[in-house]
Amino acid sequence: MKVLIIGGGGREHCLAWKISKSPILDKIYAIPGNAGISEIAECIDINISRNNFGEIIKFAKSKRIDLTVVGPEAPLVDGIVDCFDKEGLKIFGPDKKAATIEGSKVFTREFMQRNSIPIPPGIIFEKTDYKEAVDYIKKRRKYPLVIKADGLAAGKGVVIAESEEQAIEAVDDCFIKNRFGISGSKVIVEDFLNGYEVSVLCLCDGKKIIPMAPAQDYKRIFDNDRGKNTGGMGSYSPVPLVDDVIYRQIVNDIILPTYNSMLGENIIYKGVLYAGIMISDGKPYLLEYNCRFGDPETQVIIPRLKDDLLPLLLECSEGNLQRQELAWDENKCVCVVAASRGYPESSSSGDVITGLDDFRNNEEVLIFHAGTKIVNGKVVTNGGRVLGVVSKALTFREAREKVYSAIEKINFSGIQYRRDIALKAEGSE
Ligand code: GLY
Repeated sequence: MKVLIIGGGGREHCLAWKISKSPILDKIYAIPGNAGISEIAECIDINISRNNFGEIIKFAKSKRIDLTVVGPEAPLVDGIVDCFDKEGLKIFGPDKKAATIEGSKVFTREFMQRNSIPIPPGIIFEKTDYKEAVDYIKKRRKYPLVIKADGLAAGKGVVIAESEEQAIEAVDDCFIKNRFGISGSKVIVEDFLNGYEVSVLCLCDGKKIIPMAPAQDYKRIFDNDRGKNTGGMGSYSPVPLVDDVIYRQIVNDIILPTYNSMLGENIIYKGVLYAGIMISDGKPYLLEYNCRFGDPETQVIIPRLKDDLLPLLLECSEGNLQRQELAWDENKCVCVVAASRGYPESSSSGDVITGLDDFRNNEEVLIFHAGTKIVNGKVVTNGGRVLGVVSKALTFREAREKVYSAIEKINFSGIQYRRDIALKAEGSE
């Protein structure tokens, strides 16, 4: 089979790595890919923005691609799957209507409310309600308070406000400064729930849904969950706090009711449905849905998947998932993200990355590239999140030791990474 992967982050490198092991694979292409992906795939520099889907389709036809796998949310929300479907080309991911589950937080909130799926209490405000939104915030005494822009905002649309001032500033960013354009034309002001977060990604074929092993993501830039939100600075799987009872609650109280209600509303969801869950006082609440694989959750879930991923993705796209459940490696998996100077406010590029050669063809420590490219034969930084260093072991302690001793051998100017990834999981051993 010939596979085309769309995207160029750590998630896409991990998917390409796993797909490259499939006995039914002939060749992988990636648009645009990155330096790491280029070791296992032919990378093609085509813009993946919405007005360029025609070029991607032209490429897929010219190479007789059997399956296209979409990594990031933006092309899905913009309807790339609908465009491929129209041409009779196989593609893994939800169509535009189904991807609204990530494309509009207001849509998702209203959907969960009418289908009685547990979410944190909150209120939706439109731009014309600016004064009401500010008055509502001023009456609030309890912080933090969560302010969410409705649409996609490159990971910057959710603010955990610690004070009235920060909450109003977040609303101003949407309604007054138009920082997120149309994505900020509606805002949700939501109660902050105390607890712990877990990500459960599910494979869906339009009729059937198979939840995967849970993972935990570290969103803040600094140790002990301090500093700004990022795309994700590390992850681990499985999650010891999520025992069988909690996992069943997540699946039975949130994921299955969502999937069945979608079917009831004629939303045929294919691809990955990613549930961002908060466990508060022992009960799961839905914080958000994403319409794609998580990053960096994929980098710790997929290395634990024993099954061949490629037939699973193909079956999902064909609406014909054969399996009832998936087989998981019992080992613990940890991913630490190395980011570039200035991240997440900014990022730097062009810094030479050293120390990668020791890990080539090394299955003990996997290096998934994100913001990297090759310049004059050297691998250099090219964005905020640069690399994900991943390892599996019998215990979290061992997996952490392997990851952290590997990351110390890698360097680039301005490298920053958290030292506490999976520390709490290690503490529970
Ligand atoms: N790790 C968070 C996300 O993929 O959205």
